[in-house]
Amino acid sequence: MTNWKLNSWRSKPIKHQPVYADQGKIDNVLKELSTFPPLVFAGESRSLKKKLGEVSQGKAFLLQGGDCAESFLEFHPNNIRDFFKVVLQMSLILTVSSKLPVIKVGRVAGQFSKPRSSPVEVKDGKELPSYLGDNINSMEFTKEGRDPQPERLLKAYSQSAATLNLLRAFSQGGFADLNKVHLWNMSFVNETAQKKYKEIAEKVSDALAFMEACGINSENNRRLRTVNFYTSHEALLLPVEEAMTRIDSTTGEYHNTSAHFLWIGDRTRQLDGAHVEYCKGIKNPLGIKCGPTSDPKEIVKLTEVLNPDNEPGRITLIARFGHDQVTKFLPNLIKEVKKAGRNVIWSCDPMHGNTIKSSTGFKTRPFDNVLSEVKNFFKVHQDQGTFAGGLHIEMTGQDVTECTGGAQNITDKDLSNRYHTHCDPRLNANQALELAFLISEEIKKNANFSKNGIQEAS
Ligand code: PEP
Ligand code: CO
Repeated sequence: MTNWKLNSWRSKPIKHQPVYADQGKIDNVLKELSTFPPLVFAGESRSLKKKLGEVSQGKAFLLQGGDCAESFLEFHPNNIRDFFKVVLQMSLILTVSSKLPVIKVGRVAGQFSKPRSSPVEVKDGKELPSYLGDNINSMEFTKEGRDPQPERLLKAYSQSAATLNLLRAFSQGGFADLNKVHLWNMSFVNETAQKKYKEIAEKVSDALAFMEACGINSENNRRLRTVNFYTSHEALLLPVEEAMTRIDSTTGEYHNTSAHFLWIGDRTRQLDGAHVEYCKGIKNPLGIKCGPTSDPKEIVKLTEVLNPDNEPGRITLIARFGHDQVTKFLPNLIKEVKKAGRNVIWSCDPMHGNTIKSSTGFKTRPFDNVLSEVKNFFKVHQDQGTFAGGLHIEMTGQDVTECTGGAQNITDKDLSNRYHTHCDPRLNANQALELAFLISEEIKKNANFSKNGIQEAS
């Protein structure tokens, strides 16, 4: 690519970056990071891109989810295990209903830094810099806590490596074996969801018994005992992304080796900005968040500069308009993208356009609004003849009380019980499963769609 260099983003306008007090210290940490082993390999990102290419053709579905912001405090093997269980369960529910492979991508093992709506936070008349994510500063509301500390980046690297190591073990080491579908269930999940999940698990067990009779089982077929699981995060903190970018020795191309998939946030997708510049030169699959402020023509332009060869699987447009806005904005965006003949995956983020403040003062998201955005997203795609290819959610495997509603009927008053998020409110395990069940019906229409083929760009 002409004029692109690993550090060419440094000469472009940049938003949402911390200012470190000691430049020498941060430079040393970045230098150290640039010598650390890659967390993921270029070949893995390539294989994800290929699978995403299938999503863009209507032949697979993308499930992307995890924390809004990972934290040092919630770092625990049980949390990783329970998160992984919910992803497996959701994926099973979606596979059974859509009859399509579900590509699993976590917001995990590196999803730390956050863009914030205000650079400062005021509490009881005191003003301090905002919390920017555990790899930058601390939630603690003190001057020391909110000062960006370079060493946090090293801790985040080691947490990401250990998290990814466990996820790889779960994916490949037998935990994800389809014969264990019953064991993915969790005790605190409500009875209705448990019952529905059991019915699906029974179906799968029957299918496995049939296949076993035909001589195919998880001992002689790897596909039955392992899953592919990929990682992703927002490419926000560019000095770190740069430090983790390496040249793939097999192709000579640049790859970000801290995640398989990177996305550009809604606040940092300026065409002439640093984030877009950095992403132009790496070969990983990329996401672009699209919100009510995005101009459809500009999004098309972004797909062109980030994907000049129009490679299927390279770009996922992650729509996050809000339940009451998606019907207004999404059709035009789809029309422009179709008109330009751009290959994209259409994914729905029903979280970031639906954040409100509860009467009890917590940032929350009503489950009904989340569900309604997903339903409207599917409906718009059906009307436009395009494939609703993915779901992007903030979720956890824990029984937290951060989003209101759902079968547990979490109220504004309940939010304080287990409100653990370090940034935005997440769906808890119950709500995540409920969402998967509730969109199963929509997804079945998708299955018909992929049978009948994609409509050509007109
Ligand atoms: C996020 O995904 O956590 C985020 C900040 O989203 P957006 O860029 O869509 O606001
Ligand atoms: Co968020």
